[in-house]
Amino acid sequence: MDTQPGRQRCAADADEVRGICVRHDRRADALIEILIDVQHARGCVADADVGVIAEALNLSLAEVHGVRSFYADFSTTPKGRCVVKLCRAEACQSVGSDALAEQLRARLGVEFGQTSRDGMHTLEAVYCLGNCALGPAAMVNGRLIGRADSERIDAMITEVGND
Ligand code: FES
Repeated sequence: MDTQPGRQRCAADADEVRGICVRHDRRADALIEILIDVQHARGCVADADVGVIAEALNLSLAEVHGVRSFYADFSTTPKGRCVVKLCRAEACQSVGSDALAEQLRARLGVEFGQTSRDGMHTLEAVYCLGNCALGPAAMVNGRLIGRADSERIDAMITEVGND
């Protein structure tokens, strides 16, 4: 699922969310695509958005909330412009992801699950990126890095910062 962060906004804008629902013909079976588009457009899917989507699709709040909360990639608060994911699963741990985790914490100044105050960086732990043979594995804004080290991740972060 590609739910990369777009912008740091997420302020209430019911019209924008309704517009996204209309673009999907208000189809309940397009709920995941709608949630992805809302997150792309607004940086997150806030609680207020859940109500707007539920009304537009004629679904219950619980149905929309359930889907949003099932997928960890949907965020209720804005993520940073640059989202760094580091695999913390066993195969990657065995080839150095713990040391890399410490370096990333220091480099970005945040703990896992947090976004920097300037809104630039979010650091997330994931448990397998499907790249176990090339661990440690990381991902920066959806771009996979195998045999990751701090220099390669740093270069990707810089590239994202220059986009
Ligand atoms: S265990 Fe890290 S990518 Fe699979």
